[in-house]
Amino acid sequence: MGQKSFNIAIDGPAGAGKSTIAKLAARRLGFIYVDTGAMYRAVALFMLRRGIDPADAEGVSGAVEGAQITIRHADGVQQVLLNGEDVSGQIRTEEVGAAASKVSACPAVRQHLLMLQKSLAADADVIMDGRDIGTCILPDADTKIYLTASVDVRAGRRANELKEKGIACSLDEIRRDIARRDEQDMTRAISPLRRAADAVLIDSSEMTIDEVAEEIIRVAIAHGLRLSSGEAER
Ligand code: DC
Repeated sequence: MGQKSFNIAIDGPAGAGKSTIAKLAARRLGFIYVDTGAMYRAVALFMLRRGIDPADAEGVSGAVEGAQITIRHADGVQQVLLNGEDVSGQIRTEEVGAAASKVSACPAVRQHLLMLQKSLAADADVIMDGRDIGTCILPDADTKIYLTASVDVRAGRRANELKEKGIACSLDEIRRDIARRDEQDMTRAISPLRRAADAVLIDSSEMTIDEVAEEIIRVAIAHGLRLSSGEAER
């Protein structure tokens, strides 16, 4: 690879498999995986802990400067720190996910996380996933992917995940939650989820995780990514 870092941006709706696939592709390529959703989740956790309604834009804007978000990588796994505390486990609940979708509509929150996200990609080869990576955060990314899947497939995958964890759930309810989150993330005024004009569309509905990761690597190679020996090994 040349001196400049190689950046891969992956955007798409909740449940399309972005993080699983980005993690796998990053491991194969020796890239750093950056999960921006986790940063919004950490801000949401901060608001919930403070008793601030995530939908109260004024309250959220007033408090967000108090939430210092940093990330670190241990064995290739991203950890999110909220004011120095590792909250990586605590942010993975439905409650925090729904709150993250709300706080992420607040311009002050997006501004608060912007520099952190941009600086992570400036010096390192990264695969970064989120909702506005190809459109706002890394508009010059070498490869942009818009990863999606049908609502039914995404709901089915989520239900299976919960079942594996022994958590009872209703498929109808999950489907409704996903549709609601799509609506919130795609229609907000600031940085809504949308496919960048130069993003490659991948619909993972009928594909395995492995197939999608391989497709992303194939696209990146077509966009100039050079693999040194040892990279992209299984
Ligand atoms: O990918 P996720 O479910 O962890 O993201 C949680 C919420 O954060 C999502 O509903 C929208 C928001 N988000 C965002 O607005 N922009 C990003 N780059 C990443 C996530």
